[in-house]
Amino acid sequence: SKSIKLAILGLGTVGTGVVNLINDNLDELKRRSGCNIMISAVGTRRQRDDIDPAITQSDDLMAIAASDDVDIVIEVIGGTTLAKDIITHAIRHGKHVVTANKALLAEHGNEIFALAEENKVHVAYEAAVAGGIPIIKVMREALAANKVNWLAGIINGTGNFIMTEMRDKGRTFDDVLAEAQALGYAEADPTFDVEGIDAAHKLALLASIAFGIPLQFDKVYCEGITGITLQDVNYAEELGYRIKHVGFAVRHQDDNNIASGIELRVHPTLIPEDKLLANVNGVKNAVLVDSHPLGQTLYYGDGAGAGATASAVMADVMDLVRVLCTNEQGHHVPHLAFIPEELSDTP
Ligand code: HSE
Repeated sequence: SKSIKLAILGLGTVGTGVVNLINDNLDELKRRSGCNIMISAVGTRRQRDDIDPAITQSDDLMAIAASDDVDIVIEVIGGTTLAKDIITHAIRHGKHVVTANKALLAEHGNEIFALAEENKVHVAYEAAVAGGIPIIKVMREALAANKVNWLAGIINGTGNFIMTEMRDKGRTFDDVLAEAQALGYAEADPTFDVEGIDAAHKLALLASIAFGIPLQFDKVYCEGITGITLQDVNYAEELGYRIKHVGFAVRHQDDNNIASGIELRVHPTLIPEDKLLANVNGVKNAVLVDSHPLGQTLYYGDGAGAGATASAVMADVMDLVRVLCTNEQGHHVPHLAFIPEELSDTP
């Protein structure tokens, strides 16, 4: 079968999660795609001795991004400077790109997507929004034919973890933030989490797909959770509310159905305790979407962490693998009649 070679650039929480997922599920990935998926290179500053010696390790990320030995570049270094150069370089060399980098896409996505189109490659970013929840696919595929009226999402796992622990255990903000960092939930600069910037990045990405508009991160009203005290949390509780950090994207139109704009904002919000969003706790994220004609749908799952993010990264990789492995008629040929030996006894 055809081989698809992956390069993983960055071996932090997410990159390591991707390597582990591939090691754990390789048979599954191959069986379900009908393709021989392999990691050909990893980009890392420090050589790691826990990586298969057959895989090239290098700190020359630009060289890996352009290498003939790579079909798909997975960018998980984060940040908006080096990551931008690398992705641009990869695209110009005809590589498909999978990234978890919401900051980069929210700020430079219009330019990057245009460049990808010019070079006839894909830039996929399921992992950039709401961790393991397939919300990009939902917006783009499941809700493709709906008119989105509004969406409301708890889309920063670190912030939600902090708010939940403060409420449930009376812990201090700083104490919980330190734990979120240790668990690999927080951004390299956790200001992005607690000041609402990370949620604003994600909201800009969601709104762009939901409403078919360009990315407009600079238009998002952004307020974080740093001003919330334990007292606020307790008062809210007494009144029957939970404080949640929520991102809203709302379509506005006049009585004649003429669109007048989209409102984008992220900020702490009082939610009555019996509502579903009020009960999204810990590192969980949730996105509630109101669309026509479907109505309201809710998407829920882990919003951060190695496993959740790696799952989303590899979902994009698998999509690309299916495209790259299709036959000339455009049909992917799965091994439909193939029953794995270990399953063949199952009635
Ligand atoms: N720091 C982010 C969060 C990671 O806590 O949600 C996932 O995007």
